Parts: sequence; structure tokens; C-alpha cells
Amino acid sequence: MAGNITFTMVKPEAVANGHTGAILAKIQEAGFRLVALKKMKLSEERAGIFYEVHNERPFYGELTEYMSSGPIVAMVLEKDNAVADFRVLIGATDPSEAAEGTIRKAFAESKAKNAVHGSDSDENAQIEAGFFFSDLERF
Ligand code: RTP
Ligand code: MG
Repeated sequence: MAGNITFTMVKPEAVANGHTGAILAKIQEAGFRLVALKKMKLSEERAGIFYEVHNERPFYGELTEYMSSGPIVAMVLEKDNAVADFRVLIGATDPSEAAEGTIRKAFAESKAKNAVHGSDSDENAQIEAGFFFSDLERF
């Protein structure tokens, strides 16, 4: 049964630390179906466009520098209730507040370097998936 989608990235520090496979395993164990996946490096400009919503926040410069500091692994995932269920699976933004068993609890280094991104709404999931993947890259 087709569900709805969410978009995620394994962030640069988690990719560099070799956590991509373990994170993908947790995602699949939680019942998400892999629709699309690629490893790539964002330019600082492109990271800035992706996180445009935060451009007034004090951490924006740090965020775009960090997100373009090394390769990321981008994915589109499908499941019923995908956006909300994925936010539960990744845990709170700050890993010190993330619940036991969540991806950020297991793999995040800090509030800034927090291992994974997760879409915050169905609308943003569609926009973010379209930012990284064409229709020909989604199955
Ligand atoms: P994300 O968008 O990456 O899934 O994270 P989120 O919804 O849990 O958190 P959000 O408020 O959207 O923040 C986006 C990302 O900015 C970095 N951040 N740094 N230094 C700080 O205080 C701070 N606050 C946020 C994190 O990388 C966060 O995931
Ligand atoms: Mg967010």
C-alpha cells in the first residue's frame, strides 16, 4: 500500500563517521520504504537555499557551512504517516533531549551536528524531495 513521503539527509558528520549504513538499517527496520537515494555534496549556496526558512536565525551561517562541509546522503522515504513517524524515529533536534532508541540519540554529536534531517510537513517533504530528485530517480 502506498503511503505518503518524507525527505531525509544523513548529514556530513554522520556520513564522515561511517554511520550511513546503520542509520539506513534503522530507517528500514522502522518500516520506511526507500523511494530514492543519492550521495552528493551541497555547495554552500545550495545548502542556503535548502535551509532558507532559517535565514534570519543566528545559526544560519554555521548551518550552511556545516551542511556543505562534506558529502550527505539524501533519501526519499515512503510510509503511512511518514513525516510524523520519521520525526519520532529521529528524535529531538538536540541529542541531549532525544529519546532512547532514536537516531539522533544514537548518532548525533550536538544540536548543530545532529546526524539527520527530517521534513517537518507533507508540503515541505514534496518540496525537499523535488529539490534533490527528478521523477526518473524515484521508484
Ligand atoms: P532538521 O530541519 O535538520 O530536520 O532539524 P530540526 O527540524 O529538528 O531543527 P530545525 O529547527 O529545523 O533546525 C535545522 C537545523 O539547524 C541546526 N541547528 N543548530 N546551533 C543551534 O542552536 C541550532 N539549532 C538548529 C541543526 O542542524 C538543525 O537540525
Ligand atoms: Mg527542520
